[in-house]
Amino acid sequence: MLRDDLDLLPAYVPGVRAEGALKLSSNEVTQPPIPAVAEAMANAVAGANRYPDMFSVALRQKLAATVGLTLENVAIGIGSSALCQQLVQITCRPGDKVVFPWRSFEGYPIFAAVVGATSVPVPLDAEFRNDLDALAAAAQDAKLVFLCNPNNPTGTTHSHEAIAEFLKKVPGDVVVALDEAYIEYVRDAAAIDALALLAKHPNLVVLRTFSKAYGLAGARVGYAFAAPAIIEAINKVQIPFGINVAAQAGAVAALEHSEEILSRTSDVAVQRTRVARALGAVPSQANFVWVPDLADIQATGAALAERGILVRCFPEGMRITVTTAEEMDQLIDAWRDINPARTSA
Ligand SMILES: Cc1ncc(COP(=O)(O)O)c(C=O)c1O
Repeated sequence: MLRDDLDLLPAYVPGVRAEGALKLSSNEVTQPPIPAVAEAMANAVAGANRYPDMFSVALRQKLAATVGLTLENVAIGIGSSALCQQLVQITCRPGDKVVFPWRSFEGYPIFAAVVGATSVPVPLDAEFRNDLDALAAAAQDAKLVFLCNPNNPTGTTHSHEAIAEFLKKVPGDVVVALDEAYIEYVRDAAAIDALALLAKHPNLVVLRTFSKAYGLAGARVGYAFAAPAIIEAINKVQIPFGINVAAQAGAVAALEHSEEILSRTSDVAVQRTRVARALGAVPSQANFVWVPDLADIQATGAALAERGILVRCFPEGMRITVTTAEEMDQLIDAWRDINPARTSA
């Protein structure tokens, strides 16, 4: 009755949660939505007897205006996760190739498998970055390529020049999704100007989200900037009325108060430097750090959990969300207490 390849689908592993614990496992922000955003969402819920605007016009217009694009250049998704999946749906038939860096956002292989596309994971380079040369080589016969910048879970980035060079190497009929879920945390002087790249490359899609720096992970709103033909295709495969009334209103209000909300990213930038030093983690441009060289990742994760701190353990390393100074004090104290053994790598 069911597709027999569903058993092969990798399972999405959400960050662990526990009542009262310090949750540093999902790259969320600590603070609840600011009152103006919470109020806008509550007001919208009062009208929940009506369907939401299926095409999220107010939100798209606002997003377009913030970057000098038009409504036709913007799509909204049920989180940027949904947009990643829609991109696979509009580019791939069964057996077509989806190329992505690995380790990276764990959704990519899942979304590829949903339509029976073939995943082509490309290992990160020695500095835990997307390996752009290898990705460009793999892209030659692919339909879709994801870049993750900053990369989740390693927090590494590439410069604007490097991505511009990469785009020149990818055939024009291969869609490139530049996943910028953590873009608001980037403080690198050579940071990517995705909008400038978009103007030159009609096969580029820029993916962003309200889940991270905007602090609305529970509302599920992501967005894409791209050429109108791609946006139209993305919208064709969307779940009708998927972006609910509270999500749309919350995202609009968050944009109206973006200065206040995004000011928190500067605190995170200070904390991540401090945490990376204290833990010996890879320098990060996102709201998390990556510790790759632990002798026993699981045991360290368990020891932190015993102290009420939840982190994300992968086979290759540990990812820890960076939040407020107080929470990072707690993390650093626990880490010193555990003093985990490192490999010589
Ligand atoms: C790199 C990256 N892309 C996309 C997403 C999806 O985020 P959302 O669906 O909440 O917008 C995440 C979430 O962790 C992520 O880390």
